Amino acid sequence: MHETPLTGIKACVFDAYGTLFDVGAAAARCADALGDRAKPLADVWRRKQIEYTWLRSLMNRFEDFWQVTGQALDYAMESVGLEDPALRARLMQHYLRLDAYPEAHGVLAHLRRAGMKTALLSNGAMPMLVSASKSSGLEGVLDKILSVDGVRLYKPHAAVYQMAVDHFGVPASAIAFHSANAWDVAGAADYGFRVIWINRFGQPRERLPGRAEAELDDLNDVPALVGAG
Ligand code: LAC
Repeated sequence: MHETPLTGIKACVFDAYGTLFDVGAAAARCADALGDRAKPLADVWRRKQIEYTWLRSLMNRFEDFWQVTGQALDYAMESVGLEDPALRARLMQHYLRLDAYPEAHGVLAHLRRAGMKTALLSNGAMPMLVSASKSSGLEGVLDKILSVDGVRLYKPHAAVYQMAVDHFGVPASAIAFHSANAWDVAGAADYGFRVIWINRFGQPRERLPGRAEAELDDLNDVPALVGAG
């Protein structure tokens, strides 16, 4: 690791989808039915899901992430020429039982043993986050699950990031925020968090305000970076 450690960190907050939970897993588990449409479907599904969160926040038309995820799936299925209600239901059910990335549990457990608080801060609807945390085995290593349901706006609205400050009662500068989503990295850094970009997908940085202080390929070096090594 070549990054400079962050000092004064009291809590480690994590984005959920793509950062702790593998969102590609739902389509991958339906590869039997999807064949070579699995990858394009997964890509469009995720892109539309995120676009709809931004658009709904702008339109002041919040619906929770379960609804948005279903609407994005409907778009994605049509885009690859699929009309299959049973397959739709199967894909949505998998979204409740996503796998965690392999290193996630060990890293969160390590952080907590070192006295660090841990939390999810996610666009996900609370029942989705609770379900995925249980099925992935992460429930026991998270101190708190924070859902945008509480503010009815989506990231990168500052009201979402503020939930973590309010919950932990520490300044934003004492919170290390981790996300694999480059736009979430920008939003969280611009808000005032100390941001570690988990750049799993080798994305370029967004040309937006807000820069990560460190960039990692996965979560493994997080404890060393936040002073919990
Ligand atoms: C989340 C999405 C952005 O968990 O990945 O909030």
